[in-house]
Amino acid sequence: MSYFRANIERMTGYKPGEQPPAGAKVIKLNTNENPYPPSPEAVRALREVLPESLRRYPDPFAGQACRAIGRVFGFPQEWIIAGNGSDEILSMVFRACAEPGRPVVYPFPTYVLYRTLAEIQDAPVVEVPFDDDYNLPLEKLIAARGAITLVASPNSPSGNTFPAAFLDELASQTQGIVVIDEAYADFARENALDLVRKRENVLVLRTLSKGYSLAGLRFGFGIARPGIIEALMKVKDSYNIDAAVIAVAAAAIEDQAHKNGNAEKVIRSRAVLAEDLSRLGFRVWPSQSNFILVRPPAGDAERLYLGLKSEGILVRWFDQESLRDKLRISVGTDEQNNILVRNLSRLLKA
Ligand SMILES: Cc1ncc(COP(=O)(O)O)c(C=O)c1O
Repeated sequence: MSYFRANIERMTGYKPGEQPPAGAKVIKLNTNENPYPPSPEAVRALREVLPESLRRYPDPFAGQACRAIGRVFGFPQEWIIAGNGSDEILSMVFRACAEPGRPVVYPFPTYVLYRTLAEIQDAPVVEVPFDDDYNLPLEKLIAARGAITLVASPNSPSGNTFPAAFLDELASQTQGIVVIDEAYADFARENALDLVRKRENVLVLRTLSKGYSLAGLRFGFGIARPGIIEALMKVKDSYNIDAAVIAVAAAAIEDQAHKNGNAEKVIRSRAVLAEDLSRLGFRVWPSQSNFILVRPPAGDAERLYLGLKSEGILVRWFDQESLRDKLRISVGTDEQNNILVRNLSRLLKA
């Protein structure tokens, strides 16, 4: 007799990208963090956290942060939920909507956590394969009739966004909830926030981990009609965001100029990096995010990943069908990108 449910025994669990200890001398281009510092206003808010605010339980609705989100993005507070990273909001959605007999549907490959969360709920999973250009397999997604349908846009690891008209069609033809995971939207030309107003089954997720340079803070948010938000509130932990995080997140969200400035730098460097890697013979998929998916000329991605790692440069290699010959590389500073390109050039000749 096991302590655990049969589906928990069966699953392997989510394996996060490597996180070397603080201070380790590495160029870290493996988990899509922002290479630039967070807003000075956010840092000041962190310094000004009062011991008194730590003595008491925090606001269960993270009101200060959600009001900032409402002001910046133009939604009433009842349309917004805060999470301990957008991962936590994904957990809430799965807890509220997924169980045996209620399919979880998404195009594949994408964010691996979706499968893990479905396995925890013992929900059936329908992974609809992308084609080689990562076009959205719209018809098949609709036909799978998901209780939850998830689309990361920009998608990871491919980096591309999907036209709002396609996502609109998906939502209009799907009875279940449609989650548009916009973790990387701050680096993209388009997003699906308008769909939240138009379609009652759409939930858009955002995070401070990427555009706002606050992956260590753990703050994400979801925007949807109040009916969806109310249901997610029922399954969330009461005090899911701590008092310090609420204050820092609010300040970071208010400082859109800082976030946008960093995003512009990343977008410029992304273009240079893509060009440099193309010149080395890599196939480069067009990216609207802060990383790029590339295929080395000989497809020997694992060798290059290990070669870079031995030089202290971390990129992401996925031991997964359709990805084994590719690398996902976060866009770093121009200096970091140049070191990466120099090392790849050397490894290709080796
Ligand atoms: C597509 C996607 N969604 C969500 C997340 C999780 O972000 P957070 O740090 O807000 O939990 C990530 C993180 O890498 C991601 O790639």
